[in-house]
Amino acid sequence: MRFVYADYNATTPMDPAVADAMQPFLTEWFGNASSLHAAGRRARAALEQARRTILGALGDPTGQLVFTSGGTEADNLALLGAAEARQADGRHVVVSAIEHQAVLQAADVLARRGWQVTRLPVTRDGLVEVEALRRALTSDTTVVSIMHANNEVGALQPIAEVAAVVRAHGAWLHTDAVQSFGKVPVNVKTLGVDLLSLSAHKLCGPKGAGALYARRGVTVMPQHVGGPHEHGWRAGTEAVAACVGMARAVELSASHLPAWEAVRRRRDQLVAGLQQRLPDVVLNGHPALRVANTANLSFLGCEGEPLLIALDLEGVAVSTGAACASGSAEPSHVLLAMGLPEAQVRGSIRFSLGWQTTDDDVQALLERVPRVVTRLRAAAHAD
Ligand SMILES: Cc1ncc(COP(=O)(O)O)c(C=O)c1O
Repeated sequence: MRFVYADYNATTPMDPAVADAMQPFLTEWFGNASSLHAAGRRARAALEQARRTILGALGDPTGQLVFTSGGTEADNLALLGAAEARQADGRHVVVSAIEHQAVLQAADVLARRGWQVTRLPVTRDGLVEVEALRRALTSDTTVVSIMHANNEVGALQPIAEVAAVVRAHGAWLHTDAVQSFGKVPVNVKTLGVDLLSLSAHKLCGPKGAGALYARRGVTVMPQHVGGPHEHGWRAGTEAVAACVGMARAVELSASHLPAWEAVRRRRDQLVAGLQQRLPDVVLNGHPALRVANTANLSFLGCEGEPLLIALDLEGVAVSTGAACASGSAEPSHVLLAMGLPEAQVRGSIRFSLGWQTTDDDVQALLERVPRVVTRLRAAAHAD
């Protein structure tokens, strides 16, 4: 049976060109980037080149970039590090209610340490309202974190508008661009953000690599201490091969951007096709203000987890939301924050396509998903 992967928001396959770029740094050029000898200098040069490549792609060649182990660590460092760096100015942070757990739980840590945390509600479409944000800001607000694209429903937040409000207030804006980078143009100057998180494995790069961008003038308190690596922002010997691979993935993602229109067409064909073939299929999240690859659908009368498992048996890989949340039967905090009815939350499945997804993949999904959903609905009725 043909395997259909429709879970690209969870992770992506590594591009062979990325693996090629990494290969020498895994074997013959194994030096520690902190070593002063030739092997170390070669690693350092590659690391700094990778940093320049990513800063250039983000549109701020003179900005600052710290390599991390992934998006989670970049988010943690942004929230905890920026809040700590500015604690003399105030101890209030604002996050949206639909952030990834890497941001929400970092905010929880701050709350336990005495910070005030505001979780900003979102509309039923999964969008942050700029006016609500304006009202949430206080004289103590130092850090605001609003993601660029939501991982579960794909909703694209109005970051440039948010940034104007946050900047006028004198706070710093962090955006988690883990799910937007490579899918839509991401330029830190156009967006107007102070801090931005990336993860390599969402863009056909290696797992275990990510980065936090910081505008010049912004600083964060390190959350890993030890050596003076990464300009003192993140101690620990740099994973040079992974950083090189991430930079290559970032370069390649620019060449794939035009392919996202085809992704959008396939995603929309999938949604329309499923809604034609099945009753009671609801699209969650804003229908237009969304990244091109994501469709979060509720199959009313079904439960997400059994549906995911039944689809897996049919060779289809999808998700019930955040990959880290699946396995726990917890309903999605994103869909709950959007105020969706319980049945809609419980029956939701996320389809996320890649530029690698083919028309044949979409056809296979249109054959298998209705079959499985119809079977599960009939079984639920018979109970
Ligand atoms: C929006 C968002 N932020 C952060 C992360 C965490 O990234 P990583 O898996 O690299 O730790 C993810 C991964 O699912 C994500 O979707």
